[in-house]
Amino acid sequence: MDDDASVRDVIGVLLTEEGYQCTTVAGAEEALATARDGAFEVCISDVKMPGRDGSWLLERLRAEHPSMEVILLTAYGETEAAVECLRQGAADYLLKPPKLTDLVRAIERALARRRLELARQRYRKSLETRVLEKTAELSRALRQLEQSYRITLDALVAALDAREHETSDHSQRVVRYTLAIADRLGLAQAQLPDIARGALLHDIGKIGVPDAILLKPGKLTAQEWEEMRRHPHVGWTILRSIPFLEAPAEIVLSHQERWDGGGYPRGLAGESIPLGARIFAIADTLDAMTSDRPYRRRQPFAAAMAEVARCSGLQFDPRCVEAFLSIGEEALTALRDARPWVA
Ligand SMILES: [Fe+2]
Repeated sequence: MDDDASVRDVIGVLLTEEGYQCTTVAGAEEALATARDGAFEVCISDVKMPGRDGSWLLERLRAEHPSMEVILLTAYGETEAAVECLRQGAADYLLKPPKLTDLVRAIERALARRRLELARQRYRKSLETRVLEKTAELSRALRQLEQSYRITLDALVAALDAREHETSDHSQRVVRYTLAIADRLGLAQAQLPDIARGALLHDIGKIGVPDAILLKPGKLTAQEWEEMRRHPHVGWTILRSIPFLEAPAEIVLSHQERWDGGGYPRGLAGESIPLGARIFAIADTLDAMTSDRPYRRRQPFAAAMAEVARCSGLQFDPRCVEAFLSIGEEALTALRDARPWVA
């Protein structure tokens, strides 16, 4: 396209003779409108024109038809403008009047450049599609994995409940109390699932305790107690081989330990007890005291909190006790009947 009709017509005729399909127009705006109508591969335009110039047209074409190549025609002495156009994305520029051979060569180069660009776009698109597909596959796999975690945990808890003839309410309540204390201690979110799973499964080892002991209504003999005290270790043995339950297994192993070293099975003391187990010990005592037992009625939360406070530094880690007490009676009471934690 050229504002000089004679130049424009000559180029049009010559290119048509060379076998190209040409459309000629008189100005930049008309060129842009025509480009919107048809599928053009290359635009040849003068740089200097009355009204909108070639540089304006180039910018618009690059924005609206990025796959269309633009060759600019410049007069002698307009080299700077031509170089600027190349920077803006023009395929080439030729001095006016262009020789036919130069013009054809420039058109072929522009077409080759266009084919390459289109191939590159197709490749990029297919890469993007593959990345999207892979991402979707991965998140599907993760969801399935999470679901199988949940099913595994549910099955483990259900197995223990069936043995103890109880519902899982106790396990779920201690999870909520444990998480609330962990939160007060400022533990990282990433640590919470392990701690919650440890709390949920704390007594899983009771699966290995014989019915005669586990379900005995009366007092246990010394020998029976010894058997009962194996449950943390049995629980640890059950869980340690399940990869996502390695950390919870450590909590299960240590959940009957005491801060002062008087617990079992290893008699650990102070910070050698895993933090999750130290937190859990408080949650477990709270739930035991605030739940009905066959031999006694449940006690108020305030009484359980006072008992935990009394045992700070003895049975419990003082730092955990402090965090626990800071939750407050009202919030703790509300947690009793809150929604279950989902693995
Ligand atoms: Fe236990």
